[in-house]
Amino acid sequence: MSFGRRGAWALVLVLACVAARGLVRAQQCRRVAASVAVGTSRNASGHWEAQVVLQRRSEAPGRGAGEVRLEVEPSTAICGGARVDSVTLTIRGPPPPPGPGYVSVPGVGYYRIHKELHTWAEAKAICEAEGGHLLIINSEAEDKAILQLLKRTPNLSTWLFIGFDDKEKEGFYVTIFGDPVASLGYARWHPGQPDDWDKKEDCGTVWTESGGLNDYICDGKMGFICEQRTG
Ligand SMILES: *[C@@H]1O[C@H](CO)[C@@H](O)[C@H](O)[C@H]1NC(C)=O
Ligand SMILES: *[C@@H]1O[C@H](CO)[C@@H](O)[C@H](O)[C@H]1NC(C)=O
Repeated sequence: MSFGRRGAWALVLVLACVAARGLVRAQQCRRVAASVAVGTSRNASGHWEAQVVLQRRSEAPGRGAGEVRLEVEPSTAICGGARVDSVTLTIRGPPPPPGPGYVSVPGVGYYRIHKELHTWAEAKAICEAEGGHLLIINSEAEDKAILQLLKRTPNLSTWLFIGFDDKEKEGFYVTIFGDPVASLGYARWHPGQPDDWDKKEDCGTVWTESGGLNDYICDGKMGFICEQRTG
């Protein structure tokens, strides 16, 4: 699974109000595509009021339609002799749906297994053209999810290309984003791998039968697995 939650939307606003001083503090509008507006005033009889508007922009209103929930959590605290009233508002919306051909594994990611045979570079380009990238396995949960997908997908090549290689420096495996495979926090190599067999293997694959990582000839033709960001 890759990190960074494109389009997934959770917006948290903390509104802290110190009523005695009429101080309103708005924090944490993390998404560029979302905004928060805060206004404070006193009405004609001198009562203090604060109003908050939360907005979130959806570029493709049809995609990712679903339930949007608003949570409101009020609280009051005494801080240094002052009473502090706070309201935390959270808007939660659904993640974007997986792209065409992608399978959603809840809490883990969106994946597409391609059976057609391609070189590693072609596979990389195909994943990118469909808005994803070659798979990077970086957790045990993801490893297990992929294994399940492999088990229910018939007629696959023995190995499937995924998103790592050691083309730059032999034996130093990095993902397509340049992160060392050893730093991903999870890597289950197939027993005896990587072996740079015949000094020709620089591109990452998984073994279709049991999912372990392997190095393989970049110009060999294999099926491959793409991953899409879920957020
Ligand atoms: C000001 O706000 C208070 C509290 O909501 C309300 O009771 C009062 O009627 C308001 N005064 C005016 C003039 O609107
Ligand atoms: C798997 O491949 C065999 C031989 O090419 C073919 O007969 C069969 O229909 C394929 N099965 C699926 C599910 O694609």
